[in-house]
Amino acid sequence: MLRRLHPDQPESFAFTPANQAWAEGQIAKYPEGRQASAIIPLLWRAQEQEGWLTRPAIEHIASMLGMAYIRALEVATFYFMFQLQPVGSVAHIQICGTTSCMICGAENLIEVCKQKIAPRAHMLSPDGKFSWEEVECLGACSNAPMAQIGKDYYEDLTAEGFAKLLDDMAAGKVPTPGPQNGRFASEPLGGVTSLKEFTGESQNGSVALATRIGDTLKRIDGTEVPLITPWIAKAKKPAKPKPVSSATVKKNEPKPGAKQPVDDTGVSKQAAKDKPKAKPEAVAKGAAEAEAEPEMLKSPRGAADDLKKIKGVGPKLEGVLNELGVWHYWQIASWTPAEIAWVDTRLKFKGRIERDDWIAQAKTLAEGGETEFSKRT
Ligand code: FES
Repeated sequence: MLRRLHPDQPESFAFTPANQAWAEGQIAKYPEGRQASAIIPLLWRAQEQEGWLTRPAIEHIASMLGMAYIRALEVATFYFMFQLQPVGSVAHIQICGTTSCMICGAENLIEVCKQKIAPRAHMLSPDGKFSWEEVECLGACSNAPMAQIGKDYYEDLTAEGFAKLLDDMAAGKVPTPGPQNGRFASEPLGGVTSLKEFTGESQNGSVALATRIGDTLKRIDGTEVPLITPWIAKAKKPAKPKPVSSATVKKNEPKPGAKQPVDDTGVSKQAAKDKPKAKPEAVAKGAAEAEAEPEMLKSPRGAADDLKKIKGVGPKLEGVLNELGVWHYWQIASWTPAEIAWVDTRLKFKGRIERDDWIAQAKTLAEGGETEFSKRT
């Protein structure tokens, strides 16, 4: 079924003061940035106020919640409980047409609607007092057939009894909801066989409330119960969030402490992959000379490689490299220009790594090959 906005729309929408206060109370239930969670209750209250959901009402509520109009429209058109066209001024009748109700006579009730209200669903009666539609199961199957009228269920209906109910409503009488065949709930028609003290209309909370309010057809307008919003008093007004720079976000991200291994492999991998720790002076010289600490190991993984097989690395330099955490050819083979710059600075032999092409040598050695130099050692 296509659910579209009605072609004739009012100019504007505004909540009544009582409903506005109620709506603001609902919005305040949700954390900052989650106000859209109040969409369904607000749409429902707007429908209760106007009888149906108008486009200005949907847009008004979208604005209140900081939502795009289309998002609010999606909600309003998705749920069939939202009426997108004018409904009867006295009542909109929803007849359950699903299996139990259909077997028990829902089609007869629909026929009554067609005769007494309008030949088609969602059409207004000639006097504008009623409209009707067929709906899916309303969960009162044991009291089939049934209809929802306003807030209440009218159950165990017959065509004759239902017709009289419509006549009474049209005449301004206040009907009593619930089963219409003498039952007070869904007990056996012959009467309860146990828990006999719990019988009677007062045991049907829905009917009792409707009767107490005294107007079962009246739409909710905020006068039913006092507006109580204890969560507003409890909640401290959230401070306006300060814009957070990406640098601050990065800084606040959890990461291993400097030189602390993230696991028992001894590899501070996360730290190694972190943002290059460029020294201020290096940054000043330009990005090309920025430094980044390469992946270092606290100890060799298995046997350490003989780094002296790399041309330019003598025993002293090998010791320095080991102290830094360099034990293997594969480590050197993976160095980036920034990592070379970082090691270069600490070796105090500026340019040696590139001049002797340590990277290419280390790659060959890591793959099990030999270099001209390594063959001689
Ligand atoms: S089938 Fe009608 S209420 Fe469930």
